[in-house]
Amino acid sequence: MYSFYIETFGCQMNEKDSEIMEQLMRKNNYLPAEDMKTADIIIINTCSIRAKAEQKVYSLLGSLRCRKKENSIFLIAVAGCVAQQEGRKMISRMPHVDLVIGPQSIYNLPDLLSKAEKSKKSIVETGLSPDFNIPLILPDPGNGAGHKRFVNIMQGCNNFCTYCIVPYTRGRESSREVGDILAEVRHLVDHGVKEVTLLGQNVNSYGNDRSADRHTSFPELLRQVAKVKGLKRLRFTTSHPKDLSPALIGCFREFDNLCPHFHLPVQSGSNAVLKRMNRKYTIEAYLEKVAGLREAQPDIALTTDLIVGFPGETEKDFLATMELLETVRYHSAFSFMYSSRPPALSCRYNDNVEKEEKSRRLNLLQRRQKEITLERNKEYVGRTMEVMVEGPSRNREGASGRTGSNHIVNFPCSQVPGPGKMLQVKITRACFNTLQGQIIS
Ligand code: 5AD
Ligand code: SF4
Repeated sequence: MYSFYIETFGCQMNEKDSEIMEQLMRKNNYLPAEDMKTADIIIINTCSIRAKAEQKVYSLLGSLRCRKKENSIFLIAVAGCVAQQEGRKMISRMPHVDLVIGPQSIYNLPDLLSKAEKSKKSIVETGLSPDFNIPLILPDPGNGAGHKRFVNIMQGCNNFCTYCIVPYTRGRESSREVGDILAEVRHLVDHGVKEVTLLGQNVNSYGNDRSADRHTSFPELLRQVAKVKGLKRLRFTTSHPKDLSPALIGCFREFDNLCPHFHLPVQSGSNAVLKRMNRKYTIEAYLEKVAGLREAQPDIALTTDLIVGFPGETEKDFLATMELLETVRYHSAFSFMYSSRPPALSCRYNDNVEKEEKSRRLNLLQRRQKEITLERNKEYVGRTMEVMVEGPSRNREGASGRTGSNHIVNFPCSQVPGPGKMLQVKITRACFNTLQGQIIS
């Protein structure tokens, strides 16, 4: 019996894809290996959204060449964005790779591996069909975290933000059947899962790829999922500001189990830059939506993604982004230096902000956001919050859990409660990354 190991790079979508691949491999009697060194089959799930990841993947593959020659590795498969982008080119450069597999083909992984084994030929399976439907594979609740799970609701993206490679590597938007999503959520909850995060590149355009007679909007989907008996917490990610509707904002008034956290990537505070990014909203429209969310749910924690040094970003544009931090006062933000990702359209723009300047802007932005995050975290001190236990805290001195607002809380306890247990915790101290508290119930 062969063992397998999946190395995952990148985002939550990739983590979810790896979970699905792992489940399919187990179902087909492959055994999970402890690490890459001891595995017979190695699956590398790659990401190329920001870094020039191709080189990293190629050097990892190069380092596996000898083991493949000595037959200490049986099969090598590459999945994810780099696999999709490189396709057959990957086999020309690395003939010892047996399978290059795109995001729509991961569901056939075990079959494709045995086909590659039998034929002794490398297989490239990177087709992206506009009619693709995510198949219903009920997740194995024993595999991965038992109390919280991701559920895919759609694949792909139609937005073509000019910096972004996702529409090229994951294809067009394809929404999953409501019935399949509900079946998956119910199955998870019946097996003890307490928290579900609905996952997609652009979840709030869910359903827009369907004809009117089969259309269910994202707020309607949320309503149906929120009603699943026993589901304690519901989250979703990622949302595009242009598709954030009043109906979605209204959901935060309506459902108690919808967590008060919204990740709303803004990318830039300058309208001129947003236009060149093809984001299809202005800062004024964005701020109106932020105000609407805060009115509907005053406790909502807002987080965002930001890019500095986009082609043509002037000092004035950058200062508009800095100004936006003061206006919104995000609870936290992920920020990145722009990098050109062919064939995304901005690769044709003049990447004229020097590396040092990008780095200066990123440092300034991150330094200020760090202060704001700490100030925001301090606002929780003295409050009692509902915390879902995750496990022992990092320093092993107590337990750690998350609030609905997605903050990590560490607290002392004589015995660490089981993951998924809900506790009332009084917040006593705030740091940049975590809150400290005391159990009060
Ligand atoms: N350069 C820098 N950051 C990028 N992102 C996506 N593409 C790029 C790029 N070419 C960032 C965006 C997005 C997040 C997932 O990654 O901020 O929201
Ligand atoms: Fe990329 Fe824009 Fe689609 Fe997000 S919405 S995946 S940034 S193209």
